[in-house]
Amino acid sequence: MKTVQHNIDLTSFIKDPYPTLAALRRDAPIAYVPELNAILMSKRNDIFICEKNISVFSSDQPDGLMTQLMGQNMMRKDGADHQRERHAIFPTVSPKTVANVWKAEFIRQTQDILDRLVGQSEIDVVNDFAMPVSAKALKSVTGLTNMGWREMDRVSQGMIDGCANYTGNKTVEAHCHDCTASIDRHISERMGQVDRDDFSSLLSIQHKAGFDLATISANIKLAISGGQNEPRDAIAGVIGTLLVLPDPQSTGLRGYPASSYASNGVDVVVQFLASGFQA
Ligand code: HEM
Repeated sequence: MKTVQHNIDLTSFIKDPYPTLAALRRDAPIAYVPELNAILMSKRNDIFICEKNISVFSSDQPDGLMTQLMGQNMMRKDGADHQRERHAIFPTVSPKTVANVWKAEFIRQTQDILDRLVGQSEIDVVNDFAMPVSAKALKSVTGLTNMGWREMDRVSQGMIDGCANYTGNKTVEAHCHDCTASIDRHISERMGQVDRDDFSSLLSIQHKAGFDLATISANIKLAISGGQNEPRDAIAGVIGTLLVLPDPQSTGLRGYPASSYASNGVDVVVQFLASGFQA
């Protein structure tokens, strides 16, 4: 069967990918896109089915951008190899550890950030609040307590840009290398510090599991790549949406009176956003 070809305009795609995504889903849900020299699947259910078929869609992609730029992390391994590393880090990210270890620390860190913002007449919710909240939490969870929060955000964004660099932009690639080198410097420094294993961090747990440095480093880079921007944007998105959310009745958010936004903010926003995506 011949692959369907679908051309996209890279400039408008980079500016706002959603119209292109909608067109792909409507006209060519599985298509060869020459501008990216890649076959794109754009429907959730197709991805859900295919990603499990690892004999065809293996996560082991030695030539893939992520593996080339960040090393082979657990998300780029299949079956038992993936399971071994995923199992080893579970104590760091388990709901129990989040509740018993990280939560109190996250609250302390966030209170400290809020205290510093008191008195400012205006704040930038992303840069002044969501970014440090997310980055400071990630410093604790990764074990890279020696990295500044702005550097955490910089290296995260640099890796994400690098992994999305399908057009092979050399500046983006060089910047990504600079970011991964910074992470490796911080890992080396932490490995030599006496309190290295005092925390339930990703660094500590992988070191105790006997993983080699390349594996520890690749998995920490993986956690930093998504673990900074996803919570950062989720926190900012929740705040932003709550600020503009109209009357819950008119948005169909029955069962969520405005008075419950403070305690159920995340639920309200997820429901609000999901209703938009279904449309
Ligand atoms: C709102 C926050 C987050 C979102 C939406 C998110 C989303 C995702 C997604 C979509 C995947 C890919 C899953 C797959 O392909 O099967 C993933 C994998 C992963 N994420 Fe996150 N993530 C978030 C926060 C974090 C944080 C804070 C950390 C670490 C501190 C983290 C560490 C990981 C790891 C280690 C994997 C690989 C798991 C595996 O291969 O089994 N993520 N994340």
